[in-house]
Amino acid sequence: MYKYSVSILGTGFIGLCSAACFADKDIKVLASTHNRKKAALINDGKAPFYEADLQEMMDNIKKNNPEFLQCLTDPIKAVLETDISMITQGTPMRKDKSIDLGFIESTAREIGEALKTKDKYHLVVVRSTVVPGTTRNLVSKIIEEVSGKQPGIDYGLCMQPEFLAEGRSIEDTLQPDRIVIGEFDEKSGAMLQEFYEYFYGDHLENCPILRMNLESAELVKYGNNCLLSTKITYANEFANFAELVPNVDVSQVMKGVGLDYRINSRFLRAGVGFGGSCFHKDVNAIKAWSKSKGYPSRLLEAVLDINDDQAIHIVDIAEELAGKLAGKRVTLLGLAFKPGTDDMREAASIRVVNELLKRGIMDINGFDPKANETAEIELGDKIKYAKSIEEALKDSDCALLITEWDEFKNLKPDDFKKHMKNPNLVDGRRLYDYDEFNNAIPFRAMGRINLA
Ligand code: UDX
Repeated sequence: MYKYSVSILGTGFIGLCSAACFADKDIKVLASTHNRKKAALINDGKAPFYEADLQEMMDNIKKNNPEFLQCLTDPIKAVLETDISMITQGTPMRKDKSIDLGFIESTAREIGEALKTKDKYHLVVVRSTVVPGTTRNLVSKIIEEVSGKQPGIDYGLCMQPEFLAEGRSIEDTLQPDRIVIGEFDEKSGAMLQEFYEYFYGDHLENCPILRMNLESAELVKYGNNCLLSTKITYANEFANFAELVPNVDVSQVMKGVGLDYRINSRFLRAGVGFGGSCFHKDVNAIKAWSKSKGYPSRLLEAVLDINDDQAIHIVDIAEELAGKLAGKRVTLLGLAFKPGTDDMREAASIRVVNELLKRGIMDINGFDPKANETAEIELGDKIKYAKSIEEALKDSDCALLITEWDEFKNLKPDDFKKHMKNPNLVDGRRLYDYDEFNNAIPFRAMGRINLA
């Protein structure tokens, strides 16, 4: 067993995936959540949500060393019985789109309560996404006030941003491309570095550890998500340029652009826009934060606006192809924000449905291989939920491909001809071979128009 034990305060994607990965490497972990049901599931060795490879890892821990991963409903106890505490609470978006630090505040208070009675040095690590200044001015201030202890003397303080993508959380945790450690002082950073040197071992040969101050580390995370969102929006802007003249194909253009070693081709796939729990939340949070400091960001405003407009644009394309769609049936293939998940948060499908309804298009059939249930929670009776691709396409006048699931990749033009009333198809993710489909059925793909 490793010499330091860790409490993980918050059991979402970051918290539970880290907890499982640490426990699987002989580090004693006490996770903590106020949700009793969730804690019971974790203690039973069951993942409370779906994430690739997580259940297998939890099975392995349960079989080989169950004492290494326990989940409490008492964060104070978890802090008292461990050497390092990691805050992995959510930082959701408020109604005004700024960051909600409520869970971070209450967790800092709980850590303060615990440290009040603890004499041994304890390391506190913020791993949630928080706007610059939060770790020092909010988390540490609360801990100081509640515990009467001093950062740098009684407790250490670090901020370590997390770059996990959903569906890859375990893989991303085990094989990061860098570890960023924001530190209050040398001692805090050195202790966290030592912890990761143990955890990652040889992997660190290909993975630099960057040490910096707390505020810079906080901004690194926003730097990442804002640049990735900007890359997608940039590809979408060029998709819209591509549609201004025949023969330009945005996929080929982005391939050409991305091969520049200074750019790289990832996150240059044009389409109906980005969704998910992080990009909107984080871009909006840092935008609201910079505005509150007197610097409204024109760049990020444009990134979000162009992203939202892609949903309007795909409906424009559909009506160019199929004529006015009010009174007709429209099919949405895919509802989740990306393949491999049932997560509907900020999914492009929501914006597309709202745009269809705004234009009086009420007969909407949706189908998602995994997200029908979560979509129904989000969209209610705004659309109908088909149980199969065939049912979704039945008697439809226009199909819009929204999420690039493998299940849709295998469809051929004949499948659309067979099931639809009129086989109009708009490819919102550039999933299909352009020539094959364009030669066979009325077809449009974002970022390309018919050859002259
Ligand atoms: C993202 C970041 O990748 C991750 O580092 C961060 O910690 C959390 O946010 P995630 O939201 O899980 O992860 O998904 P990601 O795979 O990044 O995709 C986000 C959205 O962008 C999806 O809707 C996807 O369809 C869209 N996307 C992605 C594009 O439209 N084009 C692309 O080229 C890439």
